[in-house]
Amino acid sequence: MADITTSLKLDGNLKMQVGTFHVAVWGCQMNVYDADRIRDLMAASGYVEQVEPRGADVIILVTCAVRAKAEDKVFNQISAWRHQGVINERTIIALGGCVGAELADQILKLEPSIAIVFGPRTAHRLPHMISSYAATGDKIVDVQAEALEKFDALPEQGQRGPSAFVTIMEGCSNKCSYCIVPYTRGEEESRPEQDILDEIVTHVAHGVKEINLLGQNVNSYRGLTPDGNQSRFSNLLYEVAAIDGVERLRFTTSNPMEFTDDIIAAIHDLPVIADYIHIPVQSGSDRILKMMRRNYTSDDYRRLIDKIRKARPNIYISTDIIVGFPGETDEDFAETMRLVNDIKFDSGFSFIYSKRPGTPAAELPDPVSLEHKKQNLYVLQEKLEEYAVMYSQGMLGTRQRVLVEGISRKNEQELKARTSNNRVVILEGAPSLIGTMVDVDITKVMTHTLKGEIVR
Ligand code: SAH
Ligand code: SF4
Ligand code: F3S
Repeated sequence: MADITTSLKLDGNLKMQVGTFHVAVWGCQMNVYDADRIRDLMAASGYVEQVEPRGADVIILVTCAVRAKAEDKVFNQISAWRHQGVINERTIIALGGCVGAELADQILKLEPSIAIVFGPRTAHRLPHMISSYAATGDKIVDVQAEALEKFDALPEQGQRGPSAFVTIMEGCSNKCSYCIVPYTRGEEESRPEQDILDEIVTHVAHGVKEINLLGQNVNSYRGLTPDGNQSRFSNLLYEVAAIDGVERLRFTTSNPMEFTDDIIAAIHDLPVIADYIHIPVQSGSDRILKMMRRNYTSDDYRRLIDKIRKARPNIYISTDIIVGFPGETDEDFAETMRLVNDIKFDSGFSFIYSKRPGTPAAELPDPVSLEHKKQNLYVLQEKLEEYAVMYSQGMLGTRQRVLVEGISRKNEQELKARTSNNRVVILEGAPSLIGTMVDVDITKVMTHTLKGEIVR
């Protein structure tokens, strides 16, 4: 048991320092949001964050379970830290996020060095769990809570960079047959509209220029309005766009099945919405889409993209594709390639199907070899890359408005910025430009980034 002194409240506000913590995060933006809120919560409880894990009193792991490889990462990381002497028997390890909810008490057997298991819905109880473990030495597994409880219990968010994630709904009720998310994050529930707007106003007051609304399927947002009615995602978009200081608005993820005309109208009406939208298609084969329980056909998807492109001709579309879903034939894969060539995605994230325990697809026969799936994945990725490069080349010589996000990772003398269509631009400029929007001319196209010069 670690000899960590529990939080001591002296006069209601002043708290003694109770130790240091380090947060490691894997997975989607919803986890990044949760990890940031955990940082605020730990700081409010008197803990001090460490960028490096070595020597931290508490290590908090915010994990992803979407594919087996994602899940393995946390366990591999703990072993690596143990071998490197980064952690020792005094380190309090708290594993949270989607693996926490998925495996719950099994985790204590899988990895005995873990003291606390929490889930996406119980992150707000973490300081209490740590004090309790520190006082008693009894391990804790606490993964169940109401979907929105954490949002009410977390302190106001701290100051971050110029772009902020705002979770608008927790969970997912779609239950696509391959996906573990509905079982790790639970049934879908939307946050009340005013809570979201208040959070955005706080971000703007901290200098945030770009808001990214998050949910597993933001189109189905149905939060309550202040007068007790049910809102819609399109309403929320108009409300957020009306907040003074929000200069760029993004949202992810939009599911093709509930991409209604009111959302397309909002994209048309609101220039603050970025020229980039991520709409995962998963497959181009109607037979596979049906087995995935996606509730749309590849032609529905084609029509949807047509409508969005008519509403906003400059928009860049990215997608997710799963290769090798159980029973996927070469004909099914050819349909996916046909769709990719029809839509010409700006970018795509593609994955080999990973069997997730407890999901309906895990029961299906899966006769195709991993080798064959890998070959198909390679063919798909080559094509997606070809289109990504084509769009980047098309940006050469154009003028773009970018949000300067920070210092470039590769060269400290350069800045890193992002275009409306989500391309990273490297430029020369003073660090004082960080957090501002500037116009740049695109002067060079590199593999995954662009080079730009600030317009004087
Ligand atoms: N809510 C989003 C997706 C979230 S998960 C949506 O419905 O679009 C992110 C991506 O992981 C999915 O789009 C899918 O392509 C991939 N994915 C999910 N489960 C998977 C599995 N079992 N195997 C491989 N990829 C998977
Ligand atoms: Fe998973 Fe489907 Fe929900 Fe996306 S919409 S999180 S793929 S169940
Ligand atoms: Fe992973 Fe959970 Fe997000 S499984 S993709 S971290 S919702």
